Amino acid sequence: MLESTVFNCNVLTLPKIHNRAGNITALNNSVDIPFDVNRVYYLYDVPGGEDRGGHAHKELQQLIVAVSGSFDITIDDGRNKKTVSLNRPYYGLHIVPGIWRDLTNFSSGAICLVLASHKYDANDYIRDYKEFIRMKKLCK
Ligand code: TYD
Repeated sequence: MLESTVFNCNVLTLPKIHNRAGNITALNNSVDIPFDVNRVYYLYDVPGGEDRGGHAHKELQQLIVAVSGSFDITIDDGRNKKTVSLNRPYYGLHIVPGIWRDLTNFSSGAICLVLASHKYDANDYIRDYKEFIRMKKLCK
C-alpha cells in the first residue's frame, strides 16, 4: 500500500463474446481478474454533477467497469495523478491498494460495476487526504 503507484493501475481489456444479437462479457475469478473477487457492487442513479470516491484503501483491490454510460476516474498515489475515462463495458480499471480515487463526470444513466477483493470493511478506508499523503510519504 505504501509503495503502490498509479503506474501499477492498468486498464484491462475484458473478454467479449460477440454475435449478431449482442455481446457478453464473462469474468472468471483469478483468470480474467487479477485477484479473487469477494464482493460485487454497483453505483447507479448518480445525480448529474455529483462525484463519488474521495478515498483510498489499505488492502482492497478493485476492478471498475462502466457497464453502462461513462465516467472518469482520477487515480492519485500522492506523487502522480492519472485520469482514465471509462466508456465501454469491456474495459476495466484495476486499482491496487494505496491509491486515492475520485469518480467524476457520470453520464446520465451510468452504471459503475465494482469487483472487489474483500468484503466491506470501514477500517480499510482512508478518507482523509492529508492522512493519505502522510501514510504514503513514509516510504519516500
Ligand atoms: P463509499 O465506498 O464511500 O462510496 P463511493 O466510493 O462510491 O463514493 O460508500 C458509501 C456508503 O456505502 C458508505 O456509508 C459505506 C456504504 N457501503 C457499504 O455498506 N458496503 C459496501 O460494500 C460499499 C461499497 C459501501
